[in-house]
Amino acid sequence: MRLRRCHALLIEPRETRELDIAAVFAGEARMRSRIEWRGLAAHRDDCVTLSDAEVLALGEVSSTDWTEGEDFVRKHGEAVVRRLLDNGLLETEDAPDAGDAIVREGHWHRIAAVAHRHLRWQDTDTQKTTEALAGDSSLPPMLERLGPPPPPVAPRVDAARRQPLPASPETGFDRLLSRRVTCRNFDPARPLPLAMLATILQQVHGARATAEVTGVPLLKKAVPSAGGLHPVEAWLLVRRVDGLAPGLYHYHSTDHALEPMRALDAEEADGLALRFVAGQTWFAQAPVYVMLVARFQRNFWKYRGHAKAYRAVILDAGHLSQAQYQLATELGLGAFITAAANEGEIERALGLEPMRDGVLAVTGFGYRAGEMVDLEFDPLKAVWPAPA
Ligand SMILES: Cc1cc2nc3c(=O)[nH]c(=O)nc-3n(C[C@H](O)[C@H](O)[C@H](O)COP(=O)(O)O)c2cc1C
Repeated sequence: MRLRRCHALLIEPRETRELDIAAVFAGEARMRSRIEWRGLAAHRDDCVTLSDAEVLALGEVSSTDWTEGEDFVRKHGEAVVRRLLDNGLLETEDAPDAGDAIVREGHWHRIAAVAHRHLRWQDTDTQKTTEALAGDSSLPPMLERLGPPPPPVAPRVDAARRQPLPASPETGFDRLLSRRVTCRNFDPARPLPLAMLATILQQVHGARATAEVTGVPLLKKAVPSAGGLHPVEAWLLVRRVDGLAPGLYHYHSTDHALEPMRALDAEEADGLALRFVAGQTWFAQAPVYVMLVARFQRNFWKYRGHAKAYRAVILDAGHLSQAQYQLATELGLGAFITAAANEGEIERALGLEPMRDGVLAVTGFGYRAGEMVDLEFDPLKAVWPAPA
């Protein structure tokens, strides 16, 4: 038997604070620290608590070359090696780990791979988490508890040394940007016309041109993308779009067509909508969501193991979202983005393998309701004029 370490593994000395029970029995309420080794592998959702002997063993085995198992067992003991095999941090040549192969062959940067895997959410409800982690998340108690935030601007020279700039003239673009306000009040009674959905998909997510550049197929889109590769694609949860059956879809960006993945009944679609955005009821009324999903290997094919590749892919999601916000605003719609998404649940629903197709954000758009129930940030009163 020959074995090797999994491709991407970080070992963290994880510190947890807990009540010191011995002190409590002695009549004193005191917290104490506990530090344990935690192994975070890019092909596993769980993190593995490791003994000193297991950490040592992992530090003595290659993740690339196969090592003779017998020598390794002799040195580190059968129990250590068995446990590392059982929890997937080691693999054998005759039964390689399929999940590890995806990371290995996907040309991930190891730190990015572990960060991507372990910063995903599974079945989180932000309403409960916010209460549990930080208490009331409205601003006055937060200010009281956390003190003031850093100032909005950090001056680097004295005010007298600042060079004033001419004010920009008011333009249509300027007025459009003023009306771009994250929407938290969608009209549940007003479906989205198919033509509007199609316009946003074509203009924001569609390929404007395809080009072979020295044999490499590149796309031209509304937004920039590292290497012209455009790895971030639109996947849809459709609930109330005229002329389109509720369900999950993938947008084909060069054919400008929807690929049906799964039909949904209204109840199932409503449940997914709420859980995809981790319980944020104010987004869950949007008639359509667009999940921004990165097909990592499209970028990593070129930027192999590159320290900047993961960041470049995430930047694409920001560009796409802003273009979508702007076009939705121009069409008289409200739009949103959230990173507080339950990636795990979205992956399950869409049948995605997270190290191949990674959910980066949930966005959505639709008609605004006539009344603001959930707060929107509109200090310019461009969307919600002050009552007369
Ligand atoms: C990456 C990202 C994540 C966001 N996540 C949330 C969120 O989870 N919930 C929410 O209500 N708004 C979310 N927002 C919207 C911001 O709260 C909003 O952009 C901000 O308050 C400024 O308001 P504006 O977009 O109307 O200018 C997010 C925005 C961004 C860019």
